[in-house]
Amino acid sequence: MSEQKYLHLNNGLKMPILGYGTWMASEEEITVAVNEALEIGYRHIDTAPVYLNEKAIGNVLQEWLSAGKVKRSSLFVTTKLPPPGNKPDLVESTLRKSLADLQLDYVDLYLIHTPFTVMLDENGEFKRYEDGTIMVDPSTDHAAIWKEMEGLVAKGLAKSIGISNFNLQQIERLRKHCTIQPQVLQIEYHIYLQQPELIEYCKASDIAITAYSPLGSKGVGALNKMVGVERELPDLLEVPEVKQIAKKYHKSAAQVLLRWIVEKGLSVIPKSTNSKRMRENKDIFDFKLSPEEIEQLNKLDANVRVVDFAFFKGVEKHPEFPF
Ligand SMILES: NC(=O)c1ccc[n+]([C@@H]2O[C@H](COP(=O)([O-])OP(=O)(O)OC[C@H]3O[C@@H](n4cnc5c(N)ncnc54)[C@H](OP(=O)(O)O)[C@@H]3O)[C@@H](O)[C@H]2O)c1
Repeated sequence: MSEQKYLHLNNGLKMPILGYGTWMASEEEITVAVNEALEIGYRHIDTAPVYLNEKAIGNVLQEWLSAGKVKRSSLFVTTKLPPPGNKPDLVESTLRKSLADLQLDYVDLYLIHTPFTVMLDENGEFKRYEDGTIMVDPSTDHAAIWKEMEGLVAKGLAKSIGISNFNLQQIERLRKHCTIQPQVLQIEYHIYLQQPELIEYCKASDIAITAYSPLGSKGVGALNKMVGVERELPDLLEVPEVKQIAKKYHKSAAQVLLRWIVEKGLSVIPKSTNSKRMRENKDIFDFKLSPEEIEQLNKLDANVRVVDFAFFKGVEKHPEFPF
């Protein structure tokens, strides 16, 4: 099995550099897939209440833990404070609900999923205007939410805390109000969206970065179609430079895309529910890109964001919408 590498977080804890993403997989799919992921050796699992699969993941984790097949201390489980829970008074109860679903006493990493807040209706569904667009709650107060996030660490409910989808200005502002600095920023990151300023800032501030949608997130296209968003998305697996490098190392295009990210010192969480591709995505520690190849891929940056939340129409009106 390939060696498992770690990123060292600013609180002294470590996070496996390679994780397993779980967005857009049904409970049935994810039950089979998380079992398989653990068999293959993934130990870092990324989920969120909005993925609607924490319960299924919790069942699998519980089976593995109670059978003694894995120790809690060797797992790294991340979940997120969802956009409707983005209010100080909801932080702890929202994490406690995730913990109950995941059947865990603590998560290794709790992230504020988005810098914006949305409203729920009386049935617990996203509150919408008549035209279907989401109603936002503009009262979001990052500093007050963060104080509650820090409280989760004090209570032992989260080992590390962080943010996701925050832009540089939002992080800079938040850091002025922190007792605990964010350990991790989770953002979309791949050859077409490299955000060098944001990455530089986080490196200088000792905030570890997790790259989401590293393969270009094919599922977003389907999601966009479902809600009527017409948008052509790039196919990162078909980029000629990536394919050419893959051929040289007898690796797949996906492996080159992932390897390029870990060589930059970022953590990466590809999602697959396909057994062969899950193995492929984990098998990226036995080859190394040359500095020229890394540079060749760096040059492909095109500032193309795939997860722009267009499928979540209305949130772009929130004063803290980050993009
Ligand atoms: N914080 C956030 O706001 C946020 C946003 C987006 C994602 N995330 C996290 O990041 C994870 C990864 O991002 P993502 O799911 O958006 O996209 P991704 O990992 O870039 O791409 C997943 C897609 O690529 C396919 N795939 C996986 N491995 C492949 C391979 N080796 N060759 C060819 N195709 C492959 C998958 O299909 P198969 O399953 O059929 O293999 C799936 O359609 C998510 O699952 C989630 O945990 C977080």
